[in-house]
Amino acid sequence: HFMNEVSGFNLLEQHLKDKLQLDHVIVVPGNSDEHDWVKQELGKACVNYLKLMLQSNQTIAVTGGTSMAAVAEMMHPLEKARDCMFVPARGGLGERVENQANTICVEMARKAKGQYRLLYVPDPLSEESYQSIIGEPSVKEALELIRDADVVIHGIGDALTMAKRRKTSEEVLEKIVQGNAISEAFGYYFDSEGQVVHKVRTVGIQLEDLSDTNCVIAVAGGESKAKAITSYFKEGKSNVLITDEAAANELLREI
Ligand code: BG6
Repeated sequence: HFMNEVSGFNLLEQHLKDKLQLDHVIVVPGNSDEHDWVKQELGKACVNYLKLMLQSNQTIAVTGGTSMAAVAEMMHPLEKARDCMFVPARGGLGERVENQANTICVEMARKAKGQYRLLYVPDPLSEESYQSIIGEPSVKEALELIRDADVVIHGIGDALTMAKRRKTSEEVLEKIVQGNAISEAFGYYFDSEGQVVHKVRTVGIQLEDLSDTNCVIAVAGGESKAKAITSYFKEGKSNVLITDEAAANELLREI
């Protein structure tokens, strides 16, 4: 059933793959702005993709957000990939508990019958606490696992939507607006050329670390996210995109 749905979007997938220069694109039917079930389809498509490519003993770093929560919701035992380890990609970014990477990580690990390690860091972090926190042995151990992750899965958001959802300070909000930020991923805000406008200071994966990761999967759908997806992929270091029909069509109109 899943494969049939996917093959209907072969052409769309191929176009996006070429335009964004990605290794793999999956498009699911519908518009996740309008229906929650479409987000679940994104989650399902991501789990199916993981089932194909994950191997035993691999580490998967995940971010927070509702799209990632949908991946966790659809997760089930990964027969081919035993003893996988789920870790949060980065520390606190100001999300509500249900949208936090730690929460999502635990659910994914439980459903996939894997392991997990969490990161407990307050947000926002001052330079001073950042320096002392990364020296803590328990944080250090988790950070090593995270930075060595075999697979990274993340969401992409509209910059202002994310800044507001995270109750960003007036000062930072101003910086984001002045910098014409369009997209946000991993706590980084990007402009239309994919340049970093602002970065939330927290521990974990930094944008540059992604270049060493073979498989970085972005899960983002909804017509409203098309601009954000385009902006992120201008300089984005992800090689797989899982999106929906509405975002895909809008994206192709833009680029
Ligand atoms: C999170 C990312 O995974 O998802 C954010 O850390 C991103 O960077 C966000 O913006 C998008 O959230 P949602 O709820 O739209 O999936």
